[in-house]
Amino acid sequence: MTNDSIPNLTAFDDESLDKAFAELRDQAKAVADAVDSSEALEAFRLSWLGRKQGRLNEVSSRWLKAAPPEAKKALGQRFNEFKQFLLTELLLELDQRSKSADAALKAQALDITLPGTRRLLGAEHPITRTMSEIVSVFAALGYSVGVGPEVETDYYNFESMNFPPGHPARDTQDTLVIASQERKPLRDRLLLRTHTSPVQMRTMELEPPPVRIVIPGKVHRNDAADATHSPIFHQVEGLCVDTHITFSHLKGTLDHAMKALFGSAVKTRFFPSFFPFTEPSADVQISCIFCGGKGCRKCKQSGWIELLGCGMVDPAVFAFAREKQPAYDPKKISGFAFGMGVERIAMMKYGISEIGQFYAGDMRFLSLFV
Ligand code: DAH
Repeated sequence: MTNDSIPNLTAFDDESLDKAFAELRDQAKAVADAVDSSEALEAFRLSWLGRKQGRLNEVSSRWLKAAPPEAKKALGQRFNEFKQFLLTELLLELDQRSKSADAALKAQALDITLPGTRRLLGAEHPITRTMSEIVSVFAALGYSVGVGPEVETDYYNFESMNFPPGHPARDTQDTLVIASQERKPLRDRLLLRTHTSPVQMRTMELEPPPVRIVIPGKVHRNDAADATHSPIFHQVEGLCVDTHITFSHLKGTLDHAMKALFGSAVKTRFFPSFFPFTEPSADVQISCIFCGGKGCRKCKQSGWIELLGCGMVDPAVFAFAREKQPAYDPKKISGFAFGMGVERIAMMKYGISEIGQFYAGDMRFLSLFV
C-alpha cells in the first residue's frame, strides 16, 4: 500500500482541481486493484478513510484549509465526490471481490460439500486370499511360514528331494530350465522350481528338528495351458518333523485342514501313491463338496475329489539334510510332508471352471472377490 504523502496544491482553478483529484483516484485505484483479501481491504480502508492518519483526512487538511475562499466551494464539491467514490464504488466493489477471494481460498483449503474423488477399494487376489487362508489354518496349529527362491538349483528341486539324475519321476514335472548352463555340474544348474518341496530341504539345512512349516509359493512347469492347467501356478507345501511323528498325525492334520477349508461335513480318504521324497506316499481325496458325496458331474460320479499329495518323509531325504544338520537322524526323528495346488483349491471353493480367469486381470472377474 503506497503512503506517499499528499502534495500541496498550488493552483485552485477548476482544471488543476480536476487533475489533482484524478491523480488521487488513480492512486486509490492502483492500490485497490492489488487488494485480494479482506485483510488487505481493511488496510486499504484505514489508509484512505482512517480517522487519524487516513489520506482523505490529509487531503482535507492540506487542500481545503489552504484553499482561497473563492475556491473552497469547487474544492469541497470535488472532495465530497472523491469521498463518495471511495466509499461507495470502491469499497463496495472491493468488498465483493475480497469475499469471493476468501471463498476461493476457503474452497481450496477444504470444501466438505464436494463429493470428492472416489477411490476404488482394493482387494486381495483370490489366489493370494486362498493361499493365506491355507497358511492360517496351519498357523493355528503352530506352523510357521517358509519361503525359498523361484529360480532353484537342480539339487534342491530334484536331487535332494530324492529324484536322482535320470530318474523317471523327473518326467512327471516337465521343467523349464535356464539356458546355457551345460558347463555346470547338473546339481548346480538353475531351473524354475517345479514345486515348493525344495524349500523343505532349504529349511532343514537351516534349522534342526523339530520343524513345522508351511511354504506358500509360485511354481512353473512346461505344461500346455488348458481349463485346469497353467505353466505358472501356486502351491502350499507342508513339513512336520519331530520325534515320534506317525502317519496318524499326517491323517489327523490333513483331515482337520480340509474340514477347516471346505467345511466340517467334508470327509477325507487316503490313497496309496508315489512321490520320490515320501514313503509311504498318499493322494488325499475329499468327499465331493458339490454333491456331498452322492456323485455328480464334478466328481465324475465317484463322490470323491483328489486334492493333494502327502506322505512320510523318505529317509533318503533326511540323509541329504544330515549333510548340514546331523540331527535329522531317521533313527531318532520322523516326519510327514504334503503339497497342494492353490489354484485347484480356489477353483473348488469359488466354483471357478477356467484357471485362466485368475491371470487374465479382468475386473469383472476380480471384483467378485472384493
Ligand atoms: N511336490 C509334489 C508335486 O508338486 C506335491 C507333494 C506331494 C508335496 C507329496 C509333498 C508331498 O510334500 O509329501 O506334485
